[in-house]
Amino acid sequence: GTCSALTVKVPSKSIHAVEGKALVLPVEYNFSTKAQEIQITWICQRPDSHSSLLVTAKNDHVVVEMQYEGRISLDRPNASLFIRQLELSDEGDYIVKISIKADTIISANQTIHVSVDAPVSKPVVHSIPVTGAVEFEGNVTLTCSVKNEKRVIFQWLKRDRILQASPRRAFSPDNKTLFIRPVRKEDISNYSCLVKNPVSQSVSEPITPIIYYGPYSLAVSSDKGQKVDKVVTVDIGEVILFHCSADSNPPNTYSWVQKFKNRTEVLKLGPEFEVKFEKEALRKADYTCCAYNNITGKHEETQFTIIVLSEAGQEKLAQKGSSLSPLAVITAVSLFLILCMFLLFLKKRCNPHTVIKQQLYSRPPTEYMKTRSISGNKTMFS
Ligand SMILES: *[C@@H]1O[C@H](CO)[C@@H](O)[C@H](O)[C@H]1NC(C)=O
Ligand SMILES: *[C@@H]1O[C@H](CO)[C@@H](O)[C@H](O)[C@H]1NC(C)=O
Ligand SMILES: *[C@@H]1O[C@H](CO)[C@@H](O)[C@H](O)[C@H]1NC(C)=O
Ligand SMILES: *[C@@H]1O[C@H](CO)[C@@H](O)[C@H](O)[C@H]1NC(C)=O
Ligand SMILES: *[C@@H]1O[C@H](CO)[C@@H](O)[C@H](O)[C@H]1NC(C)=O
Ligand SMILES: *[C@@H]1O[C@H](CO)[C@@H](O)[C@H](O)[C@H]1NC(C)=O
Repeated sequence: GTCSALTVKVPSKSIHAVEGKALVLPVEYNFSTKAQEIQITWICQRPDSHSSLLVTAKNDHVVVEMQYEGRISLDRPNASLFIRQLELSDEGDYIVKISIKADTIISANQTIHVSVDAPVSKPVVHSIPVTGAVEFEGNVTLTCSVKNEKRVIFQWLKRDRILQASPRRAFSPDNKTLFIRPVRKEDISNYSCLVKNPVSQSVSEPITPIIYYGPYSLAVSSDKGQKVDKVVTVDIGEVILFHCSADSNPPNTYSWVQKFKNRTEVLKLGPEFEVKFEKEALRKADYTCCAYNNITGKHEETQFTIIVLSEAGQEKLAQKGSSLSPLAVITAVSLFLILCMFLLFLKKRCNPHTVIKQQLYSRPPTEYMKTRSISGNKTMFS
């Protein structure tokens, strides 16, 4: 029963402390007997080292070990230890032992593990290759580094969200390195490295790997603001500025070409192309815009036809032609057929004997005559 006369409690058995900061190791104790003397001792057991005495107190008389004077204090009446200016070497197990002398001497102790870390430095990310990687072919490696890696864990963020491994994405076992192989256009994003240790965390500046891709989604538009599709109609004398654009990195080199049966003629280099038709002879022409990415070596092109409306009549015709939808054509043809059939029907109805007469008269004349003469003979004989 005497053991329960003294209890020593510590709120936390393990404390992560920050280098350079102050640390309090709180302790509560109480006892149920009337004590004549109370002795409190703090000992530090450092890893790979002998334990060393820090401070002792007998009743209210506190003695701090010489080497800790000014850095360590024990504020009576409680047994909590106070350390100023923590050093990394202060890491270890702190054992508090309390003894009370009543009829007998009763002792109890508690141990608190203290780890001491410096706040982690801001990490720095390097992307390899520095010159960039070609989509579908090249790989990118991002490496994160911090000044002091002790107890540091690494994580990767893409647009501020934690990145998980995927078929094209892998981490080194320590997570310091992120591999993307092979790269794709959608990998172009802000990546950052998040580092954490028990007392702090820090995130790197974002880095965007250089990835070469494209050209993609080649499109031509005109200065009239419309997207150019297969066919464009222009009035004679009208000037139109066409603009060709495609998504790529590095920017595409554009060229405008005209294709003939046998040869291709480069009309202009650059994304813009101006056309003006003055010759009436030219009624229709095909143009092609080519986009070429000189790093990926890929190329895309689109062709469209320009139709020149030279005269008013032609214009009308062209407009009519263009305004006729397939449905309208079908409707018109159907109506025409129905009308024809109706007329035919009417004709039959109004003159039903015509056909019979015609059949009669269409017989060979000789046969007709024969019948006639036979019947005539019969008449004559009877
Ligand atoms: C110990 O004593 C100090 C000052 O004497 C006080 O600030 C602190 O709260 C006490 N701690 C506990 C755990 O009682
Ligand atoms: C990218 O990585 C893959 C697989 O690790 C490898 O086979 C390929 O040669 C690498 N490509 C380049 C351009 O280094
Ligand atoms: C590496 O990062 C992944 C994803 O964030 C995480 O699930 C994993 O625990 C980390 N591994 C290490 C060793 O830090
Ligand atoms: C990266 O972040 C910056 C700043 O927030 C932003 O301007 C940029 O567009 C981002 N880049 C990508 C590829 O998302
Ligand atoms: C195409 O060009 C070749 C040589 O450049 C020539 O021999 C051939 O006759 C040409 N064909 C036509 C249809 O112009
Ligand atoms: C590739 O194209 C870019 C952008 O048009 C240009 O600046 C660069 O000089 C070209 N490089 C080569 C090797 O042609």
